[in-house]
Amino acid sequence: MNYSQLVSSIYIFLCLISCCSVILAQQPYIRKATTLCDSTDNSTSVFGYTCNGISRSCQAYLTFRAQPQFDTVSTISKLLGVGPSQLSQLNSVAQNATFETDQMVLIPVTCSCSGQYYQTNASYVTQHENTYFFIANNTFQGLSTCQALQAQNSNLARNLSTGTRITVPLRCACPTKSQSDDGVKYLLSYLVTWGQYVIMISEKFRVNTGSALKANGLSEQDFTIYPFTTLLVPLQDPPSSSQVVGSPPQPSPPSSKTPPSVPPSSGSSKKSWVFAVVGVLGGLSIASVVGTIIFCMFFRKKKQKTKPASSSQSFESVEKPLNKKEDEESQDFWDSISSIAQSLKVYTFEELRAATEDFSPACLIKGSVYRGSINGDFAAIKKMNGDVPKEINLLNKINHFNLIRLSGVCFNEGNWYLVYEYAVNGPLSDWIHNIDQKLLTWNQRVQIALDIATGLNYLHRYTSPPHVHKDLNSSNVLLDGDFRAKIANFGLARSTDGQEGQFALTRHIVGTKGYMAPEYLENGLITPKLDVYAFGILMLEILTGKEVAAFYEGLTTQLTEMLIPVLHEENGKENLRNLMDPSLQGKYPSELAMLVLRLIDHCLKKEPSHRPSMDEILQSLSRISTSTLSYETTISISEYHTLPR
Ligand SMILES: *[C@@H]1O[C@H](CO)[C@@H](O)[C@H](O)[C@H]1NC(C)=O
Ligand SMILES: *[C@@H]1O[C@H](CO)[C@@H](O)[C@H](O)[C@H]1NC(C)=O
Ligand SMILES: *[C@@H]1O[C@H](CO)[C@@H](O)[C@H](O)[C@H]1NC(C)=O
Ligand SMILES: *[C@@H]1O[C@H](CO)[C@@H](O)[C@H](O)[C@H]1NC(C)=O
Ligand SMILES: *[C@@H]1O[C@H](CO)[C@@H](O)[C@H](O)[C@H]1NC(C)=O
Repeated sequence: MNYSQLVSSIYIFLCLISCCSVILAQQPYIRKATTLCDSTDNSTSVFGYTCNGISRSCQAYLTFRAQPQFDTVSTISKLLGVGPSQLSQLNSVAQNATFETDQMVLIPVTCSCSGQYYQTNASYVTQHENTYFFIANNTFQGLSTCQALQAQNSNLARNLSTGTRITVPLRCACPTKSQSDDGVKYLLSYLVTWGQYVIMISEKFRVNTGSALKANGLSEQDFTIYPFTTLLVPLQDPPSSSQVVGSPPQPSPPSSKTPPSVPPSSGSSKKSWVFAVVGVLGGLSIASVVGTIIFCMFFRKKKQKTKPASSSQSFESVEKPLNKKEDEESQDFWDSISSIAQSLKVYTFEELRAATEDFSPACLIKGSVYRGSINGDFAAIKKMNGDVPKEINLLNKINHFNLIRLSGVCFNEGNWYLVYEYAVNGPLSDWIHNIDQKLLTWNQRVQIALDIATGLNYLHRYTSPPHVHKDLNSSNVLLDGDFRAKIANFGLARSTDGQEGQFALTRHIVGTKGYMAPEYLENGLITPKLDVYAFGILMLEILTGKEVAAFYEGLTTQLTEMLIPVLHEENGKENLRNLMDPSLQGKYPSELAMLVLRLIDHCLKKEPSHRPSMDEILQSLSRISTSTLSYETTISISEYHTLPR
């Protein structure tokens, strides 16, 4: 280990320590303490955030969700005791504006120390049958707590009579020394609602998730947040209305949903984690119980496995010998899955040996993939070890023309053998990089792009739970005899819970270089937009015939600049000729090619939310494909006319 490695490992170690440590936390998160109105335990921030910042008074921000009674600039500013003009300015609305119900509103406040806690004061006249809890939780949505209200209004009776004016201390805070050293200028008290993770909230305000966790004394092991509590978001710049507009939060708690995959134990070698959703209640179906058991078993296996963080080739992203113990676990797993995996045929090793002439080199396709002949049909047989049950379980659930079909499995001496449908024309990479003079027509290219988009859209939307492929590249797309595309290699696929905005995070960056989206490389964020980015790169390769991924690895900016001369300059059409695959010259409709390039440009946006969804891509490509068919017809007619008679 050389010096810089040593330094960086010490650094990582220190970071881990600091993340777990509450001592370094700026403010403790309130957790569920809000409901215990009689408790005087001040170990969480239930009375307010401790006055521990560098200033005793500062500019701070709150969020509030518009409700029927409080949905205009004037009613909200009156409730929270802020100036209507500041409020309308910060939210970029007119002073007479009305907000939609549940729309998030930003509130600028001056936050000051009152005794040992920070607060900003509002005042409120109690209504019929109000309790402190109701005022804190329902009226002020968690911006105050019953404990803080009681402490603030200790001169009044516990039972509030209607029409009493009370002081409402709203929860705010000023940056600590260490936050300030990191460039944090403001703290925003974000009101958590149902179904939110720290990652979502920090993403919304474009702040580092680690620093958001730390600001609230949360850690990677302990990150659960609850609705109607405040989460401090450390900001370098004032928040802007563009960060809070968007889909309104879900109004009700998710019912009968499987809880998100929270690791059953926090093993240190397990480097990926999922941020927990708040308050998931409700009955679990039998299926989801089974799913959870399966998940736990995957997890046990996964903990012991390390995948190389390097480029993965077709069919070979997971290679590591299993030891005896893992064997037993696989067997365990296999026993448990075999009852579920009824549609899969279980082959004996002898059957597969016979199919592949005892795995002879003559039958080797590539890597550890063999061509076998089973009952007269070809099949691709892939020898694997590693996290195989996961791939089996996923493939067993999907049945789609554009996703490679798993037809059977075999387990022998610690190795898995997966039997797939056979795609006779092999990987797309051979065709787009023009190996052995293989050439595709414009029409075929559009159909292939449409096929891939269809397959990914199915994976993103219709598998249950939805999945992200995570390793789309030109060697993981296979072509059948009719040049229809099938996506293969689901070894890295990950499930997403499917509810909007619930994202997984990982530190375990795996995939193929050049195809990995910037937010994944930088923050390990896993969303379907990862596949959209990879799809953009892949389409660019399909159109240009160049190894874009290898060439522009990590150079997203240069990559999109490559499209500028075509999309944004006057002589775009001439520039298009330089970009397109030379073997296509004169044989493609330039209007349509421009449309595809525009689509690619959108897929490669740095900001994941600016990329289209697979569904939208599918719609655009379908239109392009329809026009392409008429282009092909015109070509053949004109060719016909130029034929010598
Ligand atoms: C909690 O309350 C005790 C006294 O009641 C006080 O000494 C202590 O500083 C408080 N701690 C916090 C974090 O506010
Ligand atoms: C808000 O006020 C502006 C003038 O200041 C007026 O033109 C507009 O119609 C008003 N909008 C509403 C919804 O009242
Ligand atoms: C809030 O009001 C209380 C009394 O109602 C007062 O003691 C305190 O100083 C006020 N705090 C701020 C920050 O204005
Ligand atoms: C707290 O208030 C919210 C509305 O702001 C409400 O949906 C929720 O049920 C309340 N919690 C309790 C425990 O009453
Ligand atoms: C407060 O109200 C509750 C019922 O709402 C009643 O049982 C209790 O005696 C009242 N306490 C006081 C001090 O008035």
